[in-house]
Amino acid sequence: MSNPKVFVTRVIPDKGLDLVREFCDVDLWQSELPPSREELSQHIRDVEGLLCLLTDQIDGEVMDKAGPQLKVISNHAVGFDNIDVPAATSRGIPVGNTPGVLTEATADFAFALLMAVARRIPEAERYVKEGKWKTWGPMTLLGVDIQGATLGLVGFGRIGQAVARRALGFDMRVIFYDPGEKKPYPDLNATPVDFETLLAESDFISLHTPLTPDTRHMIDAKAFSKMKPNAVLINTARGPIVDADALYEALKAKRIFGAGLDVTDPEPIPIDSPLLTLDNIVIVPHIASASKTSREKMSEMAAQNLIAGLKGERLPNCVNPQVYSQT
Ligand code: GLV
Repeated sequence: MSNPKVFVTRVIPDKGLDLVREFCDVDLWQSELPPSREELSQHIRDVEGLLCLLTDQIDGEVMDKAGPQLKVISNHAVGFDNIDVPAATSRGIPVGNTPGVLTEATADFAFALLMAVARRIPEAERYVKEGKWKTWGPMTLLGVDIQGATLGLVGFGRIGQAVARRALGFDMRVIFYDPGEKKPYPDLNATPVDFETLLAESDFISLHTPLTPDTRHMIDAKAFSKMKPNAVLINTARGPIVDADALYEALKAKRIFGAGLDVTDPEPIPIDSPLLTLDNIVIVPHIASASKTSREKMSEMAAQNLIAGLKGERLPNCVNPQVYSQT
């Protein structure tokens, strides 16, 4: 019997790819850039499984290009806003993701960005490299304090809670807004609040919520107008949660102290984006989960989801388990 045919939309770590190769007939997209929609539509034709990335938009039309034999879609990411999950569910296709294995790496990175913006590290490095360092200055590159500050977490799931654990080491007061999580977490010194209170009281606001119609542009001009002037916004979740134009206006007018973005809208951020002209923002290319171990584990998990789906078994991590109960 021949192995099931799958399309893997980018080279992923060997840990996962070797597993996929062992079990499947793999069409591997080798280019550094993702396949275009047309290329995706061509390569997905007749496959039984798709292992894709957050850079691939997988909607019902793409699923239909594959054909009715498509058994599983496995996303090499914890977020899955790039996939039309209801469209997959209505076609009986389970969708897999990779929760848990990138929690600590992402929380580390959110904290690293928070510290980089608060203490102006990238700006200070530019200052040195541009030959501006002439003497020690009592007023040079003053930042905002982290120790004892209030950290507001939007979203208090796995990653939000992991960030709160790090905040304990800095004696921070943690408040969080999460419609699904209303009880306090005394061991994390974390208290639930409403969104308005979070905006008004936080010195640092860090986003850890999925992108949904409800969270798109959740941080808009109105939200910025309620923040403290010393506030720092950190986004390691998804770019469109923040209204980029409103962010630019808030940073330019120094309505807030600064921002750190691992994710932007769109991605990659256009090189002529006005955000790139500002000193009080740190922008990096969606690398919060980019530790060697996390990415290896993500690839392994994505492969396991793919293979389970091909075998007709329940995916170890399925975002639409309704597919198993519908008739
Ligand atoms: C990365 O952004 C992920 O969702 O895994």
